[in-house]
Amino acid sequence: MSALIQFRNVSFRYPDAGSDSLHGIDLSIEEGQFTAVLGHNGSGKSTLARLMNGLLLPTEGSVCVAGLDTANASDILRIRQTVGLVFQNPDNQIVSNVVEEDVAFAPENLGIPPLEIRERVDAALKQVGMYEYRQHAPHLLSGGQKQRVAIAGVLAMQPKILVLDEPTAMLDPQGRKDVLSILLSLCRSGGMTVILITHHMEECISADRLIVMSNGSVSMDAAPADVFSDVEGLEREGLDVPETARLISDLKKLGLPLSGETLSAEACARQIAEAAGRSACRP
Ligand SMILES: Nc1ncnc2c1ncn2[C@@H]1O[C@H](COP(=O)(O)OP(=O)(O)OP(=O)(O)O)[C@@H](O)[C@H]1O
Ligand SMILES: [Mg+2]
Repeated sequence: MSALIQFRNVSFRYPDAGSDSLHGIDLSIEEGQFTAVLGHNGSGKSTLARLMNGLLLPTEGSVCVAGLDTANASDILRIRQTVGLVFQNPDNQIVSNVVEEDVAFAPENLGIPPLEIRERVDAALKQVGMYEYRQHAPHLLSGGQKQRVAIAGVLAMQPKILVLDEPTAMLDPQGRKDVLSILLSLCRSGGMTVILITHHMEECISADRLIVMSNGSVSMDAAPADVFSDVEGLEREGLDVPETARLISDLKKLGLPLSGETLSAEACARQIAEAAGRSACRP
C-alpha cells in the first residue's frame, strides 16, 4: 500500500480567524482504504476535507496528493481530478435538469471526447444504481437518489479518491443506507479510496480506519472497533458510540468474554450467543 494523501505537520487558519482551525496534522491515507472521520461540530472535519483537494491550502506544512503538492498551482487541476469531493446538500451539487446531463457536466468541462463521456456517464450511473433514472429530472428524485447522482457526477471524473463531507446528513434512513452501501462497494469491489466524514456512528463500523477529530487535531486514529471500545473516552469528547459497541462494553464489564472486534449487529449477536454458550457450559 502507498499513501495517496499525505499531510505533513499541517496547520490551517482562516484569513480573518484569531486562531488555527487545524494544528500539526500528520496523516497518510492509504490507497484502497475506507476511512471514516468523526468529530464534534467545529472540530475541523470540513477544513480537513477541503485541504485534501487544494480548495484550501495549508498555512503551515504540506499536503500531497498522489505525490503532488497542493500548494503547487500548476498541479491543482490534476489534484482536483484525483480527489473528488462530495458535499452534504445534493441540491447544491446538481447543475442540470436531466440526470445524465448532470453527470456529464464535469467530464465535458475536462474536454473529454463525447463517446468517452457517454461511457463514463453510463458507468458512473450504474455504479450508484441510478442508470434507469438517466432521463429523469434530478429535482424530482428523493434526497438519497439526488446524492447518488451527485456521487456519479464526481465518479465520471474518474477520481482515485472520494472525499465525502457528511453526504448522508440530509437523507432519510433508507437514503443513508443506500449511499453507504454504494460507498462500501466502490471501495471493496472498485478499489476506490474513500474518506467519509459523518456524524453517524453506524456509518463508521465497516470502515478500515476511523479518525476522530477534536479541536483541530486528530485525537484517535485506529480500527473502528478499537476506537469504539473506549466508550467513556468518546463520551468525554461529546461523541456517541454505536449501540453494538455500548452493548459489548457493558457485557464485558459484567464479565462476558467478548472481543468486540467487529461491530455489525450480526457479528455482535453471534459473539454474544457464543460467549453466553461458553459461560453456560462452565461448571
Ligand atoms: N470560513 C471560515 N472562516 C473562519 N473560521 C471558520 C470558517 N469555516 C470554519 N471555521 C472555523 O474553523 C473550525 C473548524 O470548522 P470546520 O467547518 O472544519 O468544522 P467541522 O468539524 O466540519 O464542523 P461541522 O461538524 O459543524 O461541519 C471551527 O472553529 C469553525 O468555526
Ligand atoms: Mg463540516
